[in-house]
Amino acid sequence: MARDGQGLEVSNASAEAIASLDFLRDEWLAFGNRLADFVTAADREAHCAMLPLMAACLVLSMNSNEGRDAARRHLARAKDMAAGANPREQAWLASVEAWIAGDTDRCLALHDDMATRWPRDLLAGKIGQLHAFNCGDAEALMRIGERLFAANPDNRYVHAMYAFGLEECHRLDEAETLARRALAIDRRDPWAHHAVAHCLEARGRLLEGAAFLESMADTWESCNSFMYTHNWWHLALFLIDLDRTDEALGLFDKRVWGVWKEFCEDQINAISLLARLELRGVDVGERWTDVAHYLKPRLHEHLVPYLDLQYLYGLARAGEHSAVTEMLASLEDRAETAKPFEREVWADGVVPAAHGLAAYAKADHAEAARLLGQAMPYLQKIGGSIAQRALFGAIHLDALMQSGWNDAALALLQADDRERPTVPWTKRMLGVVYRRVGRMEQALATEYQAEQLARQYARGRPT
Ligand SMILES: [Fe+2]
Repeated sequence: MARDGQGLEVSNASAEAIASLDFLRDEWLAFGNRLADFVTAADREAHCAMLPLMAACLVLSMNSNEGRDAARRHLARAKDMAAGANPREQAWLASVEAWIAGDTDRCLALHDDMATRWPRDLLAGKIGQLHAFNCGDAEALMRIGERLFAANPDNRYVHAMYAFGLEECHRLDEAETLARRALAIDRRDPWAHHAVAHCLEARGRLLEGAAFLESMADTWESCNSFMYTHNWWHLALFLIDLDRTDEALGLFDKRVWGVWKEFCEDQINAISLLARLELRGVDVGERWTDVAHYLKPRLHEHLVPYLDLQYLYGLARAGEHSAVTEMLASLEDRAETAKPFEREVWADGVVPAAHGLAAYAKADHAEAARLLGQAMPYLQKIGGSIAQRALFGAIHLDALMQSGWNDAALALLQADDRERPTVPWTKRMLGVVYRRVGRMEQALATEYQAEQLARQYARGRPT
């Protein structure tokens, strides 16, 4: 039986089919922009089930109804070619079927098992990590990375896969070391850049984070739009915390928005960046209008909760009131019909958070604070990374501040400042709340620290 470049047996595979599968693995792990070539090859393939199966995974990872429809067609073709499928291929068939059915818990269980039985199957691990990410299961994200790393210690891509899982489990030192080791092998690894960015962001190493990403950005030109726009988004986050919001807005226009406006990942990078800029008082002009135009087809998708919440916020900020009303009702229906494993996240997390975001967007801050506060304990399970979910925490905090809920705002700000003591804005907001509650000495001290940090960052700013 033929074997792929990882030594895995592939049924009914010609040399050409093996070459296509090897191409896909490398291109996917490198976040390359030639993935559509693989779908073309899969459409031509008549014998090897793994090609249409992998094509189904690719289109499913787009998180759209069209992607799901296309995946059904690929899966039907794969089943026609699946006579004699080996156990690994049968596991792939089952996982694609479960993905199409929306059984994310089963997908994750299958890929968890695949990572144990076939840790050389890097795409099984990659997609397993994607499911873990979409469920907010950081432990599974790390565990799958760990198993792959043990079986592929020399593979640079696997370093970054494990590193990101470690970072999401707050094991920052190990994560950064591993991601930098990947870059010592080859500096052109956008997922390793991404893992380092998360580690530096989590610690508030702002100047270092911005300089690091700027020094690697020349390698992102051949990236697909997710990786390209997302790594630029990460750079924008550092710039915002460095008080360089004008540059971050410039990145929105030049890098983050405009590559592939129909794609969910581009959309959420854009929404999250505009929202974060507004939270720092930046006027983003008419930019919401264009983003919202591309969100309107998504009102009833509800594939991954953290995507839905961001779509809803983008529509709300654009003033698309009827779309927001329709989407809120649709999210409530989604929660009512949720499968047991996901009921809590949709009913207790997404629905109150969505209403809270809609309230915040129309400046009903007290209602936003109340509803977002209800949702916060369930927020990890909506999926996404710690850095992505931080947007909802930031909106909740602002709602608390705006509605004068000083004790709760103070507790959040103090926690933020303990974790990332290098952000001038956090200290400024601490100063505001300390003044409100009459703690003048602490207000003056934090305001002084904010000023010192801002001066230090201004000196490091390019002229
Ligand atoms: Fe990220």
